[in-house]
Amino acid sequence: MQTPVIAPSILAADFGNLEREVKMINDSQADWIHVDIMDGVFVPNFSMGLPVVEAVKRHAKKPLDVHLMIVNPDHYLAAFCKAGAHSISVHVEACPHLHSTIQQIKALGCKAGVAINPHTPVVQLENIIADIDLVCVMSVNPGFGGQKFIEHTYRKVEKLKKMILDANASALIEIDGGVNQQNAKPLLDAGADVLVAGNFVFSAANPIDVIARLKATH
Ligand code: DX5
Ligand code: ZN
Repeated sequence: MQTPVIAPSILAADFGNLEREVKMINDSQADWIHVDIMDGVFVPNFSMGLPVVEAVKRHAKKPLDVHLMIVNPDHYLAAFCKAGAHSISVHVEACPHLHSTIQQIKALGCKAGVAINPHTPVVQLENIIADIDLVCVMSVNPGFGGQKFIEHTYRKVEKLKKMILDANASALIEIDGGVNQQNAKPLLDAGADVLVAGNFVFSAANPIDVIARLKATH
């Protein structure tokens, strides 16, 4: 098993001290910074917009992994790319022309990801898996941090891993929602490559330590 990629979710950070929070991530063993964008339509919540992404980017020394929980993402891909996204994930449930959306993300020079909600079967990715860099498997219903991990996720990750291997594809499997030290190892055993963690990191007394322990999971 490879060392997992760790992506703290900035949604759980103290927005009044965003620079300090981003610098903490810079100083940690985290690999990426996960940035959640919510529009109040695709999900029942708002999070942050482009100025906040630009502010994170100004201080960040790690790539920004942007997760778009929005309808009509095609309209905003260029703006998020310009704001500093390294990878952009769109929801399969929000993209009737997913192949075209993925091609647009790639044409902008970003890594392309697809996120799937807890009820969405992985088979929906069968015809796109070879074209993408990342699958973001939602292990909670998107919209809020701090929710309980959905156990069925393990089965989905196993199926997805098989699909990726069968297709000779190279997409990474990212787990998003309710990740903690207990589920990290079984998730990696099932085939996950990237662990997003929001509250588990930012509500800890020592977030740097928590990130180091997640990174050392094997
Ligand atoms: C949920 C977001 C997640 C969230 C994870 O809609 O996509 O990225 O920030 O936060 P935790 O780890 O607290 O569940
Ligand atoms: Zn997310």
